[in-house]
Amino acid sequence: MSIIFKKETNQFYLHTQNSTYIIELLDGRIPMHAYWGKPLRDMLPLVTWKSAYVLSQNALDTGLTGDFASSASLTLECPTYGAGDLREPAIHAEYADGSRLTRLEYVGHRLIDGKPPLEGLPASYGTAEEVTTLELELRDSLTQLTVVLQYAVFEKLDAIARSTRVINAGEQSVKLLKVASANVDFYNKEADMLYLEGLWTRERRVKRETIGNSYHRIESRRGTSSHMHSPFMALLSPDTGEERGDAYGFSLVYSGNFEGIADKDAFNKIRVSMGINAFDFSWLLQPGEVFQSPEAVLVYAHDGIGGMSRRYHDFIRRHICRGKFQYESRPVLLNTFEGVYFNFNEEKLLAMAQRAVRIGIDMLVVDDGWFGKRDNDRSSLGDWVCNTDKVKSGLKGLGDTLHSMGLQFGLWFEPEMVSPDSDLYRAHPDWCIHIPGRPRSLSRHQLTLDLSRGEVQEYIIQAVCGILDSAPIDYVKWDMNRYFSEIGSPALPRERQQELPHRYMLGLYHVLETITSRHPNVLFESCASGGGRYDMGLLHYMPQTWCSDDSDAVERVYIQHGTSVLFPAVTMGAHVSACPNHQVERTTPLRMRGHVAMAGQFGYEMDITTLTEEDMTLAKEQVDFYKAHRSTIHFGDMYRLYDPMKAPFAAWQYVSKDGEETILCTYVIASIPNIAAERVKMQGLDAEASYVESETGRVYPGAFLMQVGYAVERRADHVSQMVVFRRV
Ligand code: GLA
Repeated sequence: MSIIFKKETNQFYLHTQNSTYIIELLDGRIPMHAYWGKPLRDMLPLVTWKSAYVLSQNALDTGLTGDFASSASLTLECPTYGAGDLREPAIHAEYADGSRLTRLEYVGHRLIDGKPPLEGLPASYGTAEEVTTLELELRDSLTQLTVVLQYAVFEKLDAIARSTRVINAGEQSVKLLKVASANVDFYNKEADMLYLEGLWTRERRVKRETIGNSYHRIESRRGTSSHMHSPFMALLSPDTGEERGDAYGFSLVYSGNFEGIADKDAFNKIRVSMGINAFDFSWLLQPGEVFQSPEAVLVYAHDGIGGMSRRYHDFIRRHICRGKFQYESRPVLLNTFEGVYFNFNEEKLLAMAQRAVRIGIDMLVVDDGWFGKRDNDRSSLGDWVCNTDKVKSGLKGLGDTLHSMGLQFGLWFEPEMVSPDSDLYRAHPDWCIHIPGRPRSLSRHQLTLDLSRGEVQEYIIQAVCGILDSAPIDYVKWDMNRYFSEIGSPALPRERQQELPHRYMLGLYHVLETITSRHPNVLFESCASGGGRYDMGLLHYMPQTWCSDDSDAVERVYIQHGTSVLFPAVTMGAHVSACPNHQVERTTPLRMRGHVAMAGQFGYEMDITTLTEEDMTLAKEQVDFYKAHRSTIHFGDMYRLYDPMKAPFAAWQYVSKDGEETILCTYVIASIPNIAAERVKMQGLDAEASYVESETGRVYPGAFLMQVGYAVERRADHVSQMVVFRRV
């Protein structure tokens, strides 16, 4: 049993293979955070030792005397606002009389084999063998506000999925101002914060900063999880490196506005909190109603940032992604966008398709431009009707032809949006997010549909399912290309306007659950101007994400390197595009473009009818190589050997779960003159075993590859390789 309640000490032990998390009920009433780290069988009860005496000037709100007199002394599981604790609260509520004080005390707990789903939200899942759940029930005795803290313990992966359920068990309405998904108070801690930061076309750069005695915050207020910060952060010990030291990860299973906070007080306690962004959020809870927070997946790794990443990769593959494609090899695709943009017709598509067949590509994806009057990005979003001037035999005709050629058929949609120049907008001008009487700001010439409205959800379901039912479509790219503005919905009453961003997410999740379960054989890939909504929430419905609109091989090394801190390669859409590159005008060899894209979900996005015969031959070799080795890249263990942020060179390694195959990928971003070959020390091999390099037949001892290294030249720009070794 991974969860143990020791009644004599009032302690809950949450054990995983390599970690323990301990909660102690102070005075049998207040859930305190006692410990999280390497396995620990016995924790001295906090009340029995001088662990926390501080002379704080805060109020004596605990009702106790001595060491625990002040809430500033406490490391709390669910801090609230209103009495003595002036740090970031996890729960903040306003009651009918206008007061904002909540005092939560333990009333009971239950243990569940397995893990119950979260109503209306994406969430991790597992069998009763894989996960056990603790629910702690807390209550405010004056208002009867009830809070259930859920801890789902995934023993093998050192992960705990936490979420918060708030129930209004009182007789008057309550306005929730903040509900964190998880709060952890670290005691006396020196730490760094690691997070992923970026912008459109340069997503997810790894950032690390020392947490001083101040407030650190990552967030999104944009309606999507955003390009700027991913809903993920980690606390690292100062000496934690790629393969050693403590790493505590927090990743939210949510795709909308979020906040991640690390707040270090004068006593060096660090409060880490993650959940829906409290900025411009409130939720009216009527008597008897329940509010369910999204969940945050917490991972502890004793073996560094790499160890944390590998646990998240396993977790996402096994406990977040679902459906037929979860562990399946997916089609190598040719996407039309960067090749022809909006300018195509059926002849052109079929010419591209013929070429695709020659090099072993499995699917043609018709990106933007196939519907309404869409010849540029200024019109027609919302009008999901095939433009037969461009696709003269219609989607069914085109799909049948592609299938007869041995290709699958993929199609782009942007269902959450509407162009002002569209029949949908002319019929329903009130269906977009807007504030009556205010101008509606356009972004990429479009407005966001109000997915909090049932009729809008229904419209999207009908429109997308209608197309999927009408033609043999194997894949959908689900795009979303603007952030929110003028946040308002005339369909919601005045007091619920701040609920809109979260109601939008609930609407979106309902739409996605409905469409994906009606079409279980269709592969879905999400996209939001590239990686603007790359999170564990959407991966629950769509098992891969278009990683970035930047398809330049060099930029992609940085982007995929940062992305891999959290996400496995099997989720990362990555394409070979034309040169000079359309985003940065850089020219890189086709070979390097292939080597970068093959470290993800591989495809091409160019007009391949213009490829020379020589390049066609190389492309065919790439597709063959990828198909032979992708399962190691997608489902194996990844090691980041060199950090391109430190020097213009990157190296990644993938080891298959059975240890039989390993692939070393190296990329010279910029050459250094007169430099000796780099000895790239590999990881995760069996020191006693030998490995044969597939291409040369040369045999290397495992210990040699790990301790001495594999020699890689760094003398020319953009030289790259994928070296395959098999265990002998
Ligand atoms: C977004 C996507 C691109 C492409 C275009 C189509 O920018 O990220 O991949 O689909 O939209 O307009």
